[in-house]
Amino acid sequence: MKDQRTTKLGEHQLSPQSLMMGYGYNPKLSEGSLKPPIFLTSTFVFESCADGKRFFEGITGKRTGGPEGLVYGRFNGPDQEILEDRLALWEGAEEAAVFSTGMSAITTALMAHVRAGEVILHSGPLYAATEKLIDSVFGRLDVTFANFAAGAPLEEVRALIEQSRSKRRIAVIYLESPANPTNELVDIAGIVRLRDELYASDPENRPLIMVDNTFLGPVFQHPIRHGADVSLYSLTKYVGGHSDLVAGGIVGNKVALAPIMALRNTIGTITDPHTSWMLLRSLETVALRMERAESNARRVCEFLRAHPKVERVGYLGFLDPASPQGRIYASHCSGAGSTFSVLVKGGEAEAFRMLDALQLVKLAVSLGGTESLASHPASMTHLSVPAARRKQLGITDNLVRVSIGIEDPDDLIADFDQALAKV
Ligand SMILES: Cc1ncc(COP(=O)(O)O)c(C=O)c1O
Repeated sequence: MKDQRTTKLGEHQLSPQSLMMGYGYNPKLSEGSLKPPIFLTSTFVFESCADGKRFFEGITGKRTGGPEGLVYGRFNGPDQEILEDRLALWEGAEEAAVFSTGMSAITTALMAHVRAGEVILHSGPLYAATEKLIDSVFGRLDVTFANFAAGAPLEEVRALIEQSRSKRRIAVIYLESPANPTNELVDIAGIVRLRDELYASDPENRPLIMVDNTFLGPVFQHPIRHGADVSLYSLTKYVGGHSDLVAGGIVGNKVALAPIMALRNTIGTITDPHTSWMLLRSLETVALRMERAESNARRVCEFLRAHPKVERVGYLGFLDPASPQGRIYASHCSGAGSTFSVLVKGGEAEAFRMLDALQLVKLAVSLGGTESLASHPASMTHLSVPAARRKQLGITDNLVRVSIGIEDPDDLIADFDQALAKV
């Protein structure tokens, strides 16, 4: 689009896919360069003292509406701002902020909104580092937590909200859907409705709803459209998509994002210009990559489900549409993604044998890249989770987590076939 701020062609609404190539960037400001340059600078020159003063008033919150100009590398930069504008489009969010890692995004969001003496309510399981952050780090700061299983019926969540708020103010309801590594879905829209109903007469104390959307976002699930205040991403995963960077992102409404941006300015958890540029490049292909990985995963899961050495495949595409999880899937997700669990018949030894035998699929603990990866949560990503809680969450010793990439699906099936033959 000639005007880099336009999202419409006449009356026609353009899709995020089309806008990823130019939105938010004006070539005239960069010598006509088709693509945004990487702006490697730590600070920006003001045209006048009046400008500098006005920008700082925006940065420090003395004036609402943000900085209006570029100031200093810890606050903002052209690559980061273009990236934020584009990231927000996928969920139709008012605003976005980008961070050095997914965990720095989550930490900044929670620190900005939670105070001593309050409680965080969360679904379980969460990514292990997030659980540790809430339990150990916030625990030291007189912040308590209470949790419910990701797929818990809404009546159970209602009881927990009522019980928790009778003791402490609930600052945040923090959800992860699908959950890592069990893939269990949370009824985001149901919890938003419940929160709105329970706080109708006490809107000042309404807890924010934050959702970790790393597994299906930004293509297959949009928590902001279901009423969540904040949707969080490890951009390291599907958005980055090539296993060559770490970064995080937050999209949401301005009221929820303002304190998060202010804290990011103070502590410096923003991502750097080079990583932001890489993410701009990645966003151009995110839909293509996620759609291809999704169709590959379906083929691989069908093969695994029929294999005699496999006990079960935990894949969203196999949910019974009449089950509670199947209903959440139908109302929240437009695709099953490509991260799932395989329960190999046996225990740790059998799971290890399959993992050690895989050739094309690499043994590594990330997900969402162009290449397929597999790992063993009980002994790797979730080792720090106490054994009793792992059991309660269904993170068993025979569970292998798989993230399918964009390889040829027949080659992936051949790899699982030969690896399972060695179990
Ligand atoms: C669901 C989820 N959230 C957050 C994170 C943390 O992201 P990062 O490693 O970019 O800090 C991860 C990492 O695996 C994750 O799987």
